[in-house]
Amino acid sequence: MDLHYQSGFGNSFATEAVPGALPVGQNSPQTPPFGLYAEQLSGTAFTAPRHENRRSWLYRLRPSAGHGPYAPYVQERLKSGPFDAAAPTPNRLRWDPLEIPAEPVDFVDGLVTLAGNGDVATQQGMATHLYLANRSMTGRVFQNADGELLIVPQQGSLRLVTELGRIDVAPGEIAVIPRGVRFRVEVSGPVRGYVCENYGQAFRLPELGPIGSNGLANSRDFLTPVAAFEDVDAPTQVIQKFQGGLWAGTWDHSPLDVVAWHGNFAPYKYDLARFNTINTVSFDHPDPSIFTVLTAPSEVPGTANVDFVIFPPRWMVAEHTFRPPWFHRNVMSEFMGLVTGAYDAKAGGFSPGGASLHNAMSDHGPDVASHKGATEAQLKPHKIDNTLAFMFESRWVIRPTKFALETSELQADYDACWTGFPKARLP
Ligand SMILES: [Fe+2]
Repeated sequence: MDLHYQSGFGNSFATEAVPGALPVGQNSPQTPPFGLYAEQLSGTAFTAPRHENRRSWLYRLRPSAGHGPYAPYVQERLKSGPFDAAAPTPNRLRWDPLEIPAEPVDFVDGLVTLAGNGDVATQQGMATHLYLANRSMTGRVFQNADGELLIVPQQGSLRLVTELGRIDVAPGEIAVIPRGVRFRVEVSGPVRGYVCENYGQAFRLPELGPIGSNGLANSRDFLTPVAAFEDVDAPTQVIQKFQGGLWAGTWDHSPLDVVAWHGNFAPYKYDLARFNTINTVSFDHPDPSIFTVLTAPSEVPGTANVDFVIFPPRWMVAEHTFRPPWFHRNVMSEFMGLVTGAYDAKAGGFSPGGASLHNAMSDHGPDVASHKGATEAQLKPHKIDNTLAFMFESRWVIRPTKFALETSELQADYDACWTGFPKARLP
């Protein structure tokens, strides 16, 4: 089934799965069409400035308030801020890809947290999870009250069946599910990917400054689903993440019963191949912030709670320049993943599905082999192709979980990639 989308980032959308279901001219008529129930879903405070304000009006078969209590649901590998189970470490860390389990596991049970920061209670910070799954969620949906979910598939496609419509997302694309929106994940085989759970203000497009009115991720390439609903009168388990814990309740119907909606608080997808990559055409290279797809601000201007940054295929043309990422230390903390191919600062050891963590002020940069190659290369125009690395970069120190520090996928010898640099020779 081909899905249909509406185009534009953060637009005020209006969509109905049944003609006439969407009220016209007002949000809360005395009797909405067909006896639907009107419900406002607020993603920002009522009083947030207009340009920040995000909310949608949903028109559904039954009010979602009609459910019983939730009880704790055990999922031991999903963790939340504050991340104080393990001591933060200044060491550079890198993980091999985690295997997708052989036994049946769906998206919710297949989430495993590698690291994070901040606190769900104060709505600051973020978590980085992997998902490792091989079957669809059946008879249950998920909802996250702690933050929005930025999903980065690495292997296999996902169908996200949400309250506000259906999204297909494949490796090379991303999807964002806003805080609180209920959804189910359907798969047709083994899947693996990354999730950034953003506890803070919602992701938005970065400012462009002197770049001008176009470039990087363009607004019209972000796709939001049209309304789609299911009319299912069967027990449905609703799992919600609230203040770090999971809670489950059984409803007597599917909560994915929104027949029409309008507003600007909605899930979306984006094809990273649409990213208009900008880089130097003279010498040196700009800071990697030039590769920012989405940014979630903190209260300090220009200092993100979390940025989503990609390293996509691109031409390298800089003259008399060391072209890969330089050696650096950064007050921001960097969690990296790899969707496909190889990353230009690492000749080996960083595999698709793997991850690395370089925390505040830790020394990192090209490994010995990449450095040697780049200093000896003939600087002809060269295309870095068939690769897609990304970074979740945060102003807060990113703390690995106990699992991440104890798993056998943690590489014991990561530091070794920076040993063996020949000493500079003074005259
Ligand atoms: Fe870095």
